[in-house]
Amino acid sequence: MEPISPKIRHYDTLCAQLESLLAGERDTVANLANAAAVLYHGLPDLNWAGFYLVKEGELVLGPFQGHVACVRIPFDRGVCGAAVREDRVQRVADVHAFPGHIACDCASNAEIVLPLHCQGQVAAVMDIDSPIPDRFDEEDQSGLERCARIVEAACGWVGL
Ligand code: SME
Repeated sequence: MEPISPKIRHYDTLCAQLESLLAGERDTVANLANAAAVLYHGLPDLNWAGFYLVKEGELVLGPFQGHVACVRIPFDRGVCGAAVREDRVQRVADVHAFPGHIACDCASNAEIVLPLHCQGQVAAVMDIDSPIPDRFDEEDQSGLERCARIVEAACGWVGL
């Protein structure tokens, strides 16, 4: 059997932390705020971690950690918009080569965006940026997909 990589073990810890922190709380903003803090402080080499919420046909900035960010993103723009349109994780090794990438923080070089769902519909995206080119590999993607499922299930998604 293959030994479990240190990175996967680290995501095990982050997931356990998210599970216990969000357990018993349904408030979406509170849960997204704590999840942003867990991710930003729990993963190395990030410059932004947070959420954009689907509101009236566009993405609107939600809880995050990092520098100030653009508030509204149309679905036809950016890495975040692509994640909503395709309802698929966008793992971008070099944001400067991504057509339509929105540079909120010029320190960002790599980005991963994961859709979160409520009743089968995309309700938000989890957006994580890094100054390190090609920062997110397949293990990061599967670890962050696990984190996204925990956050998505914990949130009530009502009254936003
Ligand atoms: N880069 C994102 C915009 C959001 S910031 O990274 C926080 C995009 O292209 O959608």
